Amino acid sequence: MSAAARPSPPPSNNPLVHQWMPFTANRQFLEQPRLIARAEGVYYYNTRGEKLLDGSSGLYCIPLGHGRREIREAVTRQMEELDYAPPFQYGVPAAFRLAEEMAQMLPAGLNRIMFAGGGSEAVETALKVALQYHRVRGKGARQRFIGRERGYHGVNFGGWSVGGMVNNRKAFGVGLPGVAHMRHTRIQENLFEMGEGTYGADLADDLERFVNLHGADTIAACIVEPIAGSTGILVPPHGYLKRLREICTKHGILLIFDEVITGFGRTGEAFAADTFGVVPDLMTMAKALTNGVIPMAAVAVREDIQQTILDAAPEDNVEFYHGYTYSAHPVACAAALATLKIFRDEDIFAQVRTLTPAFLEQIGAFRGVPGVVDTRGFGLLGAIEIEPHGKPGARGFSILRKAFESGLVLRAAGDSIVLAPPFVATPDEISQMVEIVRKLIKES
Ligand SMILES: Cc1ncc(COP(=O)(O)O)c(C=O)c1O
Repeated sequence: MSAAARPSPPPSNNPLVHQWMPFTANRQFLEQPRLIARAEGVYYYNTRGEKLLDGSSGLYCIPLGHGRREIREAVTRQMEELDYAPPFQYGVPAAFRLAEEMAQMLPAGLNRIMFAGGGSEAVETALKVALQYHRVRGKGARQRFIGRERGYHGVNFGGWSVGGMVNNRKAFGVGLPGVAHMRHTRIQENLFEMGEGTYGADLADDLERFVNLHGADTIAACIVEPIAGSTGILVPPHGYLKRLREICTKHGILLIFDEVITGFGRTGEAFAADTFGVVPDLMTMAKALTNGVIPMAAVAVREDIQQTILDAAPEDNVEFYHGYTYSAHPVACAAALATLKIFRDEDIFAQVRTLTPAFLEQIGAFRGVPGVVDTRGFGLLGAIEIEPHGKPGARGFSILRKAFESGLVLRAAGDSIVLAPPFVATPDEISQMVEIVRKLIKES
């Protein structure tokens, strides 16, 4: 048995063993726990009371910083007034207000909103809307989904099946049938190019190849993240998303943008769809929607898609047999309404646009640092990819651990070090994050 595969001795008297942690090297964690006890603004505090910069906005979900009073107060008020009501056949006012506000923010036409508890649930919801939409129009053979290599769409069966990150797939069997994956967009020609890559719009033609192979009338939808986040910030090549849109439109394939990370300002505008000028037929959102305070996600659906599904069902019938106990949870709605108000009142997306150029310049400046093999970024999303040392991902994970000791919480996607600062971070705080990363890469 190799050393790597040897089980650690049971840490029998360790009180931390009972939580099986998600997406975590549990055995390593028990040896070197990284406990976060408190947070305020763009800082966490560990159990010794030491400060750590939040270099990843939580998990891309706290753009406004931690402990926003307005959100806390809105949540408290909502809990006092109505803590829960069943979302099936009943509704709460806050959910309708939120859906209306979101419809006004979203690209024109994407104005029917269904809520869910997290990004993975939103993805399942979107995939099922696509299937039912085709079916009620007599096109029930449209059952295939097209995803993309290195895509991440959460961890539920539909989501990991259309996703393309191998570790998230390989332990779980074959997944959803009828799924094909386009090639990812990280190509040699665009290495070190910050922003949209010059080359590779034609990678979208992979979708056309699947049409030729399977027939358009078997394909329900194509799902992509406009910027692939979890795999280490893959920015679309210039023109790629437009091309994907054209092919989907030409063949009656629904285009789903998974904006769970990019939604609500990360690119400097409300949605990446706005930034890249491409409107999908469905869009999934989560994370920043409530500033991470309460779990919540949403799917925006083109009005006529919803109408088609509604019209197909007999009067008084449930039209879409889908939903979650915590869909449109009133407390989550209150958190989201308060979050959207801050985005508006403080013109937060403009702040992102102001911070972006210096941030991307600092990420791009890693070019030439020994061992750095690529830099990528767009908006307040940046990645520095380093040469692996030994097993792929080991060096990235080692930097994540050392960063915690050096006062920084970050994401490591394999050997790509990812920074996604909160929108309320100062230029100086962002520079401090980058400097810690620079030092750690140098020492690694
Ligand atoms: C693009 C994308 N889709 C879906 C998800 C899944 O969201 P959740 O973890 O809330 O289920 C994520 C999470 O990071 C994501 O980045």
